[in-house]
Amino acid sequence: MAMQVSKKPRLAAPSALLLLLAVAALLPPPRAEAGHDGAGGDDEPPPTPCSPADRAALLGFKAGVTVDTTGILATWDGGDDCCGAWEGVSCDAATGRVVALQLEAPPLPPPRRSYMEGALSASLGGLEFLETLVIRDMARIGGAIPASLSRLSRLKQLYLEGSMLAGGVPGSVLSGMASLQYLSLAGNRFEGKLPPELGSLSGLVQINLAGNRLSGEVPPSYKNLSRLAYLDLSNNLLSGAIPAFFGQQLKSLAMLDLSNNGFSGEIPASLCGLRNLTDLSLRHNKLTGVIPSQIGSISSLNSLSIDSNLLVGSIPESLFGLQKLWNLNLSRNGLSGSLPPGIRHGLPSLVSMDLSHNHLVGGIDHFFRSISPARRLTKNASSDMSAIFLPRQLQHLDLSKNSITGALPEFGAGASLRWLDVSGNAIGGQIPSSVWRLVGLQRLDISRNKIRGTIPASMAAMASLRWLDISGNALVGRIPDSFARMARLRHASFRGNKLCGKIPQARPFNLLPAAAYAGNLCLCGKPLPPCRQI
Ligand SMILES: *[C@@H]1O[C@H](CO)[C@@H](O)[C@H](O)[C@H]1NC(C)=O
Ligand SMILES: *[C@@H]1O[C@H](CO)[C@@H](O)[C@H](O)[C@H]1NC(C)=O
Ligand SMILES: *[C@@H]1O[C@H](CO)[C@@H](O)[C@H](O)[C@H]1NC(C)=O
Ligand SMILES: *[C@@H]1O[C@H](CO)[C@@H](O)[C@H](O)[C@H]1NC(C)=O
Repeated sequence: MAMQVSKKPRLAAPSALLLLLAVAALLPPPRAEAGHDGAGGDDEPPPTPCSPADRAALLGFKAGVTVDTTGILATWDGGDDCCGAWEGVSCDAATGRVVALQLEAPPLPPPRRSYMEGALSASLGGLEFLETLVIRDMARIGGAIPASLSRLSRLKQLYLEGSMLAGGVPGSVLSGMASLQYLSLAGNRFEGKLPPELGSLSGLVQINLAGNRLSGEVPPSYKNLSRLAYLDLSNNLLSGAIPAFFGQQLKSLAMLDLSNNGFSGEIPASLCGLRNLTDLSLRHNKLTGVIPSQIGSISSLNSLSIDSNLLVGSIPESLFGLQKLWNLNLSRNGLSGSLPPGIRHGLPSLVSMDLSHNHLVGGIDHFFRSISPARRLTKNASSDMSAIFLPRQLQHLDLSKNSITGALPEFGAGASLRWLDVSGNAIGGQIPSSVWRLVGLQRLDISRNKIRGTIPASMAAMASLRWLDISGNALVGRIPDSFARMARLRHASFRGNKLCGKIPQARPFNLLPAAAYAGNLCLCGKPLPPCRQI
């Protein structure tokens, strides 16, 4: 992460920014450091003591907190040295004015949690030189944001996260903070509408109001936020259409998360014009219509989650040209049409793809080929010519509950797939004998298809497998004795096939519920009745 950021610095990396802020806050003020090591102390003027006005404002905050189990406020004692000795307080060394107040509950092993209980004191509005105000994960600070905070006109960063702040998001208070760039009120109990006044804070780079109880539509005034790189409104009760101006005017957007709301209407095609967008999540809404065909022009896209909506139509072919896409979730929509046709470049960055619970058709082998990077034929290709080599980083693939046909292909080595679910389709053919080459697979679900033939004994080499479901197919023959070697297996189901013969008498096979073997021809041995001697 850090390497990526330093290579490509951009304002759109809020987590990196937070990290920098956090590191900066942990460093002791420069003067205090000089005092500790005693070097250069003679030349330096003595540190300007903490401004009495700021000290009084801080003590006002402390008085508003009735319980503090974090131990932070215990360091705010009666002395004068609020710049040097009070935890979370940073001053301008020359003026003694408080420029940053950063209070975060220290993490404790769950379920224990440290907290501050009480309310935000109006006295905080007296910290008029404050540029950074962070009060995070205090869990029990409630009440409203005091109106006096509108006096913090130098404030650039305001993070009041993870508490019990309530009432409306006070637009008139926030719009007084004319320098504001980073705003997060995530994880509180704010309700009511999104404040239109935020649209006048044209310096805003980040807005995070996720995890509250906000309702209504996105105000049109937000079209003025041309520097906005990060907008997270997820986990609220918002509704109405996704404004087309997001794509037309918020050209700096790198991260847009509107998930878990009640947004309806179509995905505006204008979003496809956001050339810096890396993360788009619209999951769990009520979006209708089709996925815009130009979606592939967002070439910066890393992650696209539009699962659990009411989208129809086919998956645009252009999506399968996104070279940086690592996460794709289109699950639980009404998507139809064919799985993506053959693509020259594949999806080289793909880590996770979930197309489950749709109405997709097409051949599974063709699909595997289309997501796999083109591979030059080696000199001695004859042995592996038909095997497919999955994208090397691909870990999670879910195509379950569609109408996919064809047969599973032979697999080449080198895949890192951990999760493969193609259950509930109409896949025929046999279990490829090379499936064991997916050695990292932890979950394999090919249940409820039309797969025939025998179970390859070589599957026993899949040493990481924890979950195996091959139920509801037309498999014949025995469960190979070699399966007794699959030490990690915790769950398996063979039910509803045409299997016969002795169940491997080893864990977990002899301990599974009998239902895991029901509906076969003539399986026997524990947990079923013993095999008859012939
Ligand atoms: C948007 O910006 C324009 C020009 O900077 C300004 O005239 C207008 O009042 C702003 N609108 C809102 C809602 O802040
Ligand atoms: C997009 O990102 C690049 C590089 O991070 C940056 O230089 C550029 O200004 C951004 N474009 C917009 C419209 O914000
Ligand atoms: C994709 O979305 C579905 C439905 O919202 C969810 O259940 C599933 O866990 C997601 N898949 C991945 C790989 O995250
Ligand atoms: C080529 O493949 C054949 C058949 O799998 C094998 O016997 C032979 O050793 C291979 N040759 C080379 C040079 O790898």
